[in-house]
Amino acid sequence: MDSRPIGMFDSGVGGLTVLKEVMEECIGEKVIYLGDTKSFPYGNKTKESIINLCKNAIDFLIKKDVKAIIIACGTATSQALEEMQKCYNIPIIGIIDSTVDYIKNKGYKNIGVIATRGTIRSNGWQNKIDEKVENATTTNKECPLLAQMAEEGWTENEIAKLVIAEYLKGFKNIECLILGCTHYPLFKNIIENKLGKNVDVINTGEMLAKTLNETLKSSNIANEEKEAKEYEIYLTDMETNFINVASKLLKDDNIVEKIKLAEY
Ligand code: DGL
Repeated sequence: MDSRPIGMFDSGVGGLTVLKEVMEECIGEKVIYLGDTKSFPYGNKTKESIINLCKNAIDFLIKKDVKAIIIACGTATSQALEEMQKCYNIPIIGIIDSTVDYIKNKGYKNIGVIATRGTIRSNGWQNKIDEKVENATTTNKECPLLAQMAEEGWTENEIAKLVIAEYLKGFKNIECLILGCTHYPLFKNIIENKLGKNVDVINTGEMLAKTLNETLKSSNIANEEKEAKEYEIYLTDMETNFINVASKLLKDDNIVEKIKLAEY
């Protein structure tokens, strides 16, 4: 048993979709979440910039004495996970592997991926699918507007419906659609309505939380305290709409008390 918290980070509110799933699945765990809002968006930055931002975020979380790090961001997972695993002597988990394992187990062959520009151009999803899923056909689409809209809380309005309809135009006969950016589960209802019930719309946070729970238990580092479900949030910049979106997503009216400025 290891009662230290889990560290988690993203560029903004997106990773909270992962936090939410981890809180539900790993009930004894405490989480320290870092939203690197000062550097948002990650999706249009170079790989070198993403690597530096990840190092800063991980150094900050390690100082908080976390037992593992979750990169709750598709852009950072696809461009920096391997590099971070080489640099640090602490378990670091990204969002891609658990979702691709799920797809393999389900036997899906016709796969859609939507993600940020940086993620799609890095081929992070495509390469992992090609490595693990035989005879898969993958259709990728970069959707640069969606993370920004999620930060604004524009996830259920008419503009969101129009933008999503435009981005989903090219997907034909897919069996599943990977929400390859952690901001996108905020649009899950609109996306599911658009694609119909025959397409499995995959929230990567849900997949990650299941794998994480199993990994923590099998490595004897799970926190066995009953219903800890605690989290603290640090932001690198307070001038954002983060609090509004976060309190709605996490259904937490006292979220302001849990948010502090991260200075590094
Ligand atoms: N939520 C992130 C991702 O999963 C980052 C989005 C952004 O900052 O552009 O890719």
